[in-house]
Amino acid sequence: MKKKVVILTGAGISAESGISTFRDSDGLWEQYRVEDVATPEGYRANPELVLDFYNQRRRQLAHVSPNEGHRQLVRLEEKYDVHIITQNVDNLHEQAGSTQVLHLHGELTKARSERDPNLIMEIGYNDINPGDLAPDGAQLRPHIVWFGEAVPNIEPAAALCEQADYFIVIGTSMNVYPAAGLIHYVPRAAQCYLVDPKAVAVQRSLTVIQEKAGTGVKKVVDQLMEA
Ligand code: APR
Repeated sequence: MKKKVVILTGAGISAESGISTFRDSDGLWEQYRVEDVATPEGYRANPELVLDFYNQRRRQLAHVSPNEGHRQLVRLEEKYDVHIITQNVDNLHEQAGSTQVLHLHGELTKARSERDPNLIMEIGYNDINPGDLAPDGAQLRPHIVWFGEAVPNIEPAAALCEQADYFIVIGTSMNVYPAAGLIHYVPRAAQCYLVDPKAVAVQRSLTVIQEKAGTGVKKVVDQLMEA
């Protein structure tokens, strides 16, 4: 029975691939108001603006690649049962070759019916435009969890954290709940790591690698491959 490694990632792991984080100095929330582009109210008020915001991010995703941080995590799968819980809506973990990825905040390459949240379809890197309809005749919207919306994958994510032998947090400011609360489901006996250039000590004993993912993740993976 392979030991279980559970990894929680945020925007920081994709930063070196060229995708802006949210709360760093050049972050996305410095350029846009969250209320305008990442809430149901914003979408209702100006659907074209919101569709365009995600169209721009989806087009960018077509031109970026995984970085060493994503790639190092794939190595772990030789020895461990690896589950990645990501807050990111990009598909860079999957592109790098990770096989068990759980998206908490949705996926850029998917769209869904405005009416039926379970009517989800792959759209790759294509735009969603007003008038693009789902099979149920409703307008298509990004398959993204906006602020104030339910996070359906939080239950399976918490269940994974409860079974972790190792827990690695990479590139998240731990600002957004319920994702940030997942650390509380991790058993005390689990060995925990944090990889972040601006790592802030969190409330439990963990090994902090105060580096970017591009170099820091390898250090954790090397340790786990030797364990
Ligand atoms: N390598 C590792 N970590 C990095 C790097 C890097 N190269 N660059 C920045 N970071 C770290 C920052 O220090 C910060 O702790 O990544 C984190 C980015 O934090 P945020 O921008 O808040 O991103 P995230 O934590 O993923 O945001 C959570 O907020 O807006 C919502 O839904 C959105 O999923 C997102 C959620």
